[in-house]
Amino acid sequence: MKIAPSVLTADFANLRSELESISNADLIHLDIMDGHFVPNISFGPAIAKEIEKNTHLPLDIHLMVTDPLQWIPKFSFPKTKYITIHTESNHVSETIQAIQKQNIGVGLSIKPKTPVRALIPYINEVKLILIMTVEPGFGGQSFMTEMLDKVKELVKIRKENGLSFAIEVDGGVNDLTIELCKEAGVDISVVGSHLFNMENRKKGIDSLR
Ligand code: DX5
Ligand code: ZN
Repeated sequence: MKIAPSVLTADFANLRSELESISNADLIHLDIMDGHFVPNISFGPAIAKEIEKNTHLPLDIHLMVTDPLQWIPKFSFPKTKYITIHTESNHVSETIQAIQKQNIGVGLSIKPKTPVRALIPYINEVKLILIMTVEPGFGGQSFMTEMLDKVKELVKIRKENGLSFAIEVDGGVNDLTIELCKEAGVDISVVGSHLFNMENRKKGIDSLR
């Protein structure tokens, strides 16, 4: 199980030391919110660039924005491993092509109310599928266990089609819910408040793993 701490709940007044405190993670998950696709605004390309400069970890960028197409070049850093967009946002096909053009892994995400079938038209293009296990917009919400049925369905679809995309979950993951994620077949867990609310995050990451 790979661990991708979400910096959404980090102390942005001490970003450098916050990043150091999770430096044994596998990826860093950046939750970018536009205040329109979700009822919250987080941070943009300038802060993302500062994060990129202050970590050696690959970036897992999650665009919770209505029109992601225009933002792809601005989040295409050397360390950007994935850029994930939502099937519910605009111009999904063109945006997938724009991400591929940057030689960055395409991620596709669905909100809790969106069924797995919304992913099917793009299933051959994606390197990552992100299943939201909370309503996107805020950290610290509780895990929606019924979302793990989507993970199990995707594990089946991946096998039947001989595909190799990674399956990631985001929202409400902690030391208890991560067990359910593992059983369902999750490859990467985004963890925000559970980690950033603890003192020794490196220990937290090791025990989650
Ligand atoms: C919701 C955010 C959060 C965040 C993780 O839009 O995407 O899910 O990454 O936050 P926690 O782990 O605190 O739920
Ligand atoms: Zn996220």
